[in-house]
Amino acid sequence: MKSTRISINDLKPNMKTADAIFTRNGVILLDEGSTLTETLIHKIKNMTTIDSISIIDENQDNDENENYTSYEINTNYKVTFRDPKNIKLDIKIEHTEMLLRESVYQMNTPHNRIANKVKFVSNFILDEFNDYSGVLENIMKLKSKENDVCRHSLNVASLCFMIGTWLKYPNDKIQKLIKSALLHDIGKIDILNKNIIDLKKCEISYCHPQLGYETIINIDDFDEEITSGILMHHEREDGSGYPFALQGHEIPQFAKIIAVADVFENLISQKKLNPFKALEILERDYMLKLDLNIMKLFIKKFSTYYIGSKVILSTGEIGKIIHFANNNIKTPLIMVGSSFIDLSIVKNISIKDFAF
Ligand SMILES: [Fe+2]
Repeated sequence: MKSTRISINDLKPNMKTADAIFTRNGVILLDEGSTLTETLIHKIKNMTTIDSISIIDENQDNDENENYTSYEINTNYKVTFRDPKNIKLDIKIEHTEMLLRESVYQMNTPHNRIANKVKFVSNFILDEFNDYSGVLENIMKLKSKENDVCRHSLNVASLCFMIGTWLKYPNDKIQKLIKSALLHDIGKIDILNKNIIDLKKCEISYCHPQLGYETIINIDDFDEEITSGILMHHEREDGSGYPFALQGHEIPQFAKIIAVADVFENLISQKKLNPFKALEILERDYMLKLDLNIMKLFIKKFSTYYIGSKVILSTGEIGKIIHFANNNIKTPLIMVGSSFIDLSIVKNISIKDFAF
């Protein structure tokens, strides 16, 4: 199928869309192959941020095969990822979340179907989430709400993907780490859906890692490395974790990585801290509880992706991060207008939040 890209100002009724079109919120507006009408053209102009779209060129040969991934989910719409490089990152993330939510984190998903769905999502993260600063910005913007296991798990999996890459894991190992992270809290779903027990009581009685493990253990696609991340992500280096109160040397690597990402995600989402404050708390309160090497790597690498980011200072001014001296994430050098503020020297000014 041949297509031509044209300005949205040149759209005419009866033209056919070559790709799916999404609203500015990432919701599908038109599927591929849709025939345009005056109303639809009006919607494209008013509900999207795009300035051009691909139109099927009816005058050219129609016999070219294209590779695309189409994935049916059990609702009345279809998620189609066509040529993902042309789709904005935030839309890719939005769709990945929708897919995960509809296919895994809902009631009645047969356990034997989880493997395929998780494989699809982990492949997509591996292939498409390579703009780390964009993914981090998205995590900050779309924080998980209380009991939203799906969004939390996607955020944790995205962070684990980065940590796995920074640790120079081969791709197949990163994919397993992503799968483990996507499912690390799956035990909470059974609890929430079946109302077996109030979630807070469950946290106290430490049952969700074990429940999640029992859900996943009999699925062939999930080996011991993956299931250990689910079972042991609440273990802590000093033996204060659960369910087994293991010491650091007894905790598998996947569980250690998921633990760092999990704690960080909870600090920014549940505690509503900005990432700088969250990293400060990580360093201050989790030094003996989380794997030190992973935590240091996380903090060091994390800071590099914030160089150039706009931040709101406690003075109300908006500045740009220029540099982190000695990898100290708490006190970067900030440029405000044409002057510089070194937060390692100016102690009465701090970063309040990001300016998106
Ligand atoms: Fe958990």
